[in-house]
Formats: sequence, structure tokens, C-alpha cells
Amino acid sequence: MRLDKLLSNMGFGSRKDVKALVKSKAVRVNDTIVKDSGAKVDPENDVIMVGENVVEYKPYIYLMMHKPPGVISATDDRHDKTVIDLLEPEFQHYKPFPVGRLDKDTEGLLLITNDGQLAHQLLSPKKDVGKTYYAKIAGHVTEEDVQAFASGVSLEDGYITKPASLKILSAGSQSEIEVTITEGKFHQVKRMFEAVGKKVVYLKRLSMGKLELDQTLKIGTYRELNEEELSYCKSIK
Ligand code: URA
Repeated sequence: MRLDKLLSNMGFGSRKDVKALVKSKAVRVNDTIVKDSGAKVDPENDVIMVGENVVEYKPYIYLMMHKPPGVISATDDRHDKTVIDLLEPEFQHYKPFPVGRLDKDTEGLLLITNDGQLAHQLLSPKKDVGKTYYAKIAGHVTEEDVQAFASGVSLEDGYITKPASLKILSAGSQSEIEVTITEGKFHQVKRMFEAVGKKVVYLKRLSMGKLELDQTLKIGTYRELNEEELSYCKSIK
């Protein structure tokens, strides 16, 4: 690939900026100062340096975010902050996007990547990737609700959901539950509880398949997936 494209993708500014960097003799490939910013390089094998730093080229990034409430799961929004706004510029220049959506008021696990193929596989209904949520519910969640979720509930638009596994953690005038769904319909968990006459007052995603929210990840922060998590995500392909 072209050196200027690579460096630009890696956050060294526009192609014009890279040209200036090359002109200043700051860029070396395999220990030779580069004269042409359009030179062809092999990102896998060439050692590319800017100043004293080796540029590690990676085409994709995979981030786990602990999404806070109040931000939108989108790449841009006219009114609200998005999850992408929470990323450092070194990650933003990969042009990542969230894998699926969490509502503005929902917290928890959100995968952010620029790997479209992986995102597609994780979201494909055919792959049946279970998404587990913790929720607080206004109302007394009962065994009947557990049965109804297990059979699939009829949403207000007539759609019958796939079977979902509902676990009651505590029941009372406000209940705490965990629910696992394999679909990702708009507001699905909230609408499933509405279908049984109850309201979700707090919702947090805990996991997507075997990818679990890192409990040490503070709300509003993110980190790159570790190797085990990444190989799990790739195994879904
Ligand atoms: N279901 C919802 O209702 N909201 C979410 O954000 C995710 C699942």
C-alpha cells in the first residue's frame, strides 16, 4: 500500500501532512529515509518509523466500551454525544462504529470496531448470539413471565419474539432480573416487559455470547479486546 495512505490511516494527518513529514526526513522505511510519500510499502514486513517510533500498522481495532447512559450508540449525532466521541483520536481515525445499538439510557457492554464483516456476523440472527442484560423492573416479575419469555412474547406490533431466558434475581414492587435474548429488535427488552405489563427502569448489557463486560472497566471507559476475546469474536465468523 502507499506510505502516505498508511501513515494517514495511522493518524499522521492528511496525505499533505504526510508529504510534509516525509520532506522533513522524519520517515524511514527499513532504516532508509524516504523521499517519496507515495512510495509503496508492505505493512506486514517493512519496518516503518516516524522519528524514533516504529509505526505498528493494524487495519482493524476492536474495543470493549462500558457505555454510560446519556450517549448515543451511533457514529455521529446532531444533538447528543455519541460513543465515538468518547474515544481518543488515535482510535477515532480508524472510523469505528458500534456493533449494534444500545438505547441512550442503557449502559454496559458495547463492542466498537471498524471490522464490518465481524460486526455483521455478531449481529446476524442466524448466529443466535445471546445478549444478556441485567435490569430493574417496576413491578413484580413472576414465574408466569419466565414462562412467557421462554415461549416468546407478542410485542405491541404483533411480532412474536424468539424464546428468551429470564432469570428472577429478586422480586418485589421493584424486581431485578437477568434476561438473555438472541435478537436485537428496537427496544427489545423494554418492549418484552411492556408486553407482560411491566416497565424497565434500568438496563445494562452484561455480555454478548462469551464476550463479557470487564467488571474493572469504569463506566464511560473502554479498552482493546484481549487475544482471547478477539479470537472468540472471530470464531463466530
Ligand atoms: N433492549 C432494549 O430495550 N434496549 C437496549 O438498549 C437493548 C436491548
